[in-house]
Amino acid sequence: MVENKNWWKNEVVYQIYPKSFKDTNNDGIGDIKGITDKLPYLSDLGVTMLWICPIFTSPMVDNGYDIANFEGINPEFGSMSDFDELLEKADNLGIKIILDLVINHTSDEHPWFKAALADKNSKYRDYYIFKKGTERPNNWRSIFGGSVWEKVPGEDTYYLHVFDKRQPDLNWENEAVRKELYAMINRWLEKGIAGFRIDSITFIKKDQDYSSLPADGADGLVSCKFKTRNRPGIEVFLKELRHETFDRFNCVTIGEAPGVEYKDFSQFIGKDGYFSMIFDFHYADIDVESGSDWFKRTNWTAQEFKELLAASQQALQQAGWGANFIENHDQPRALSKLVAPGFQTPASAKGIGAMYFFLRGTPFIYQGQELGMINAVRESISEFDDISSIDNYYRSMNEGFSEKEALNFVNLRSRDNTRTPMPWNNTKYGGFSTVEPWLGMTEEYPAINAESNEVVDWYKAMIALRQSSDISACLSKGDIYFMENVSDNIIGYWREWEGQRIYSLTNLSTAKEIVNLDQDIQTVFLDSHNELNAGKKIELLPYQSILFN
Ligand code: GLC
Repeated sequence: MVENKNWWKNEVVYQIYPKSFKDTNNDGIGDIKGITDKLPYLSDLGVTMLWICPIFTSPMVDNGYDIANFEGINPEFGSMSDFDELLEKADNLGIKIILDLVINHTSDEHPWFKAALADKNSKYRDYYIFKKGTERPNNWRSIFGGSVWEKVPGEDTYYLHVFDKRQPDLNWENEAVRKELYAMINRWLEKGIAGFRIDSITFIKKDQDYSSLPADGADGLVSCKFKTRNRPGIEVFLKELRHETFDRFNCVTIGEAPGVEYKDFSQFIGKDGYFSMIFDFHYADIDVESGSDWFKRTNWTAQEFKELLAASQQALQQAGWGANFIENHDQPRALSKLVAPGFQTPASAKGIGAMYFFLRGTPFIYQGQELGMINAVRESISEFDDISSIDNYYRSMNEGFSEKEALNFVNLRSRDNTRTPMPWNNTKYGGFSTVEPWLGMTEEYPAINAESNEVVDWYKAMIALRQSSDISACLSKGDIYFMENVSDNIIGYWREWEGQRIYSLTNLSTAKEIVNLDQDIQTVFLDSHNELNAGKKIELLPYQSILFN
């Protein structure tokens, strides 16, 4: 691997949800061989690194974020030799691979947890968070709904799970646990993967008082985030994690960091920060008041989005480096979230793509985003797979909403929206599989798929501009500045590097917008709608984005 310590600043990352990418053994579930088969597509697109969501042994309660063996491959996805083959073939194409590191919790089927349950005197009891008592120790609500405490059968004891009850939290206070995790991480890095995306890492430290807080919902519970997310003392664990593992390799680490305030960014991504970069969620959750309460929808405006985006970019720039995204496996499709109904066209998909792609940081593209995919509409809760969708549906009704409203909230926000199988072509099941896939396809796949798709061509063009053009240095290394003298609906910024300036303007609204520039446009590098009358005064159509100097 390149010896340049900051090599990861030059990557373009493509996120793969393996269960839905490509099925090669026709069981309706994607697999590792499917990723290998599609390497030519990914290479042609121009991406340089793949982040593969969990492929480890798992009962798949949370689609692999519940790991039963950190070093085994889930047979549904294939074998370790399939993975080795993928690693090698990707390397031949100059594509690096990063894996998902889920170390806040395990599956309840992990041998450590099984041993902990089987014998209360086992050393593995202290690998998890068990509390004795006849009542739940406090009123914390788990991220997926219900109490964070689950009773141990036959004992007056509870164990803690921040996510699902089948995802017991590891006890990071126990040094033996930390050592086991570090050794496992190092073995993966020795194998030659380029690094990790690090799951839920801001949850590893819990307030040791385990005290209740005033309830914040009709269920009488309170979100556990106030006591378990980015809590004081976490810095000790994160420094040690970095020191014992990542620092020993020339690897990249991307922390999933909800709950980290801007003032703390430098601890996370500064010169001696815990990670190479982090995902910031401040603007990703613009459509809801909180990422786990989908019934609390907002009436957000483009102006608010712009302010959040600018604040996020400024904080990331001041502290270090960010991981930019508009979609992932926990979010709805960006086209459905950010673009008004009636305007969710390929041109708008290009527009919002360009809006974020040239921000300062490493761009992440989620599978299917480059096709201009939109949310699936499901008619009944039984059509959903995602545990948090099911939880949000019932919680919405518990909060007084009708069943129809609850279904609407879930359709808008469900994590299943981005988890539908990848449509490769317009044949039955979109060329994803020859049998009915594990989760319904989007209805639009015969029209929106990877074959002759103008949005795919647009993503190729964006990647080529960032990676291998005369303006690459500016687009990757340049500082970012947000324009202030533009309308509320226009997201405008420029990148600046060694005297060169590249401007990006996006109209995030359903109305035409006029922008008055200080000087005539010289070169238009990209125009999502191909309708630009270049000059000092330009008119941007709804969701049009241009990149120029
Ligand atoms: C992260 C993952 C999400 C998962 C959760 C628990 O937020 O992105 O998919 O459900 O952690 O591991």
